Amino acid sequence: MKSTNDYLRAVENVTVLAIESSCDDTAAAVLRGNIALSNVASTQEVHELYGGVVPELASREHQRQIVPVVRAALHKAGVSYGDIDAIAYTRGPGLLGSLLVGAAFAKSLSIALKKPLIEVHHMHAHILAHFINDERNEGGIPEFPFLCLTVSGGHTQIVLLRSAIDMEVIGTTIDDAAGEAFDKVAKLMGLPYPGGPVIDRLAANGDPSKFTFSKPKVEGLDFSFSGLKTGVLYFLRKALQDNANFIEENKEDLAAAIQSTIVDMLIEKLERALTETGVRSIALAGGVSANSALRRAVTELAQKHGAKAHIPAFAYCTDNAAMIGMAAMFLYEERRWGSLSAAPTARLPF
Ligand code: KG4
Ligand code: ZN
Repeated sequence: MKSTNDYLRAVENVTVLAIESSCDDTAAAVLRGNIALSNVASTQEVHELYGGVVPELASREHQRQIVPVVRAALHKAGVSYGDIDAIAYTRGPGLLGSLLVGAAFAKSLSIALKKPLIEVHHMHAHILAHFINDERNEGGIPEFPFLCLTVSGGHTQIVLLRSAIDMEVIGTTIDDAAGEAFDKVAKLMGLPYPGGPVIDRLAANGDPSKFTFSKPKVEGLDFSFSGLKTGVLYFLRKALQDNANFIEENKEDLAAAIQSTIVDMLIEKLERALTETGVRSIALAGGVSANSALRRAVTELAQKHGAKAHIPAFAYCTDNAAMIGMAAMFLYEERRWGSLSAAPTARLPF
């Protein structure tokens, strides 16, 4: 079996243009080997008005942004179309209308440039972002085997990685994702979308012990977050009856308590996974890994177990195209080319 170093050495001089359009970020990046020469993303602000991503608006925005974003990625990387060896895109999972824009663009470019196409799984890419060579990635490149907690707006998984292409989901959410929990609870508090980063900011000045929200009991390594939203809803309804300004007066403590509940739920299962697998490296991935309390808690958990923690730079946590390019490098080395007839899919098995 090839080691990570074998893979990385083999693609050292390979240049990939990567496109990510699975949700509400239009993103493009150029990678040479595991170095991101550029990583450009245009976040769609239009959704803030609606308190969540509106799929139809997302695909229209992607259509408007894709050309300037790709041009910016090439320009920042200092490369031209002629330097590109392959074009990678996110095939799924994600919003179908959004995925279609990136897929159609990548396929057209592949035909025009006569260069191979590489289909990337969005969740694999979140995990493989750890192999990008960037000194801002805390803990550096992980060694196999390692556990990855992937927490985003659509997913919450504990993945056991035996190699870059041998990954197994050993725990998953049975309902909402952790990011979704942050966003839904923030919405209940009247905070703007996406709520995760807002809760994080407010929590920095709050006292998490001021309020307590119950945590569900879920079997094994699985998670459940939908009860938290209901718990907070009933709690706020009651509190607002007594004091109409309750949220405004307590928003920092509320944010801190909510954040600490979600982080505790994640850490509890991650600790269990560490113990059960005996693995000694933990990695964080996905948009929620930008959360400061979670980053601290993972670092502490690793210290407690004599394990190593790998936490990617912010730019590689939320949706980005550099991670798509990185995942594509492993597929490039395996010569696993995409097909012009493969349709993007909203649900794509892990
Ligand atoms: O991975 P991502 O960019 O998109 C996908 O869902 O694939 O993750 C977005 C999620 C949103 O739910 C957002 O609220 C959450 O990540 N998020 C955070 C923070 N930054 C982003 N949640 C908590 N704290 C943060 N600092
Ligand atoms: Zn994502």
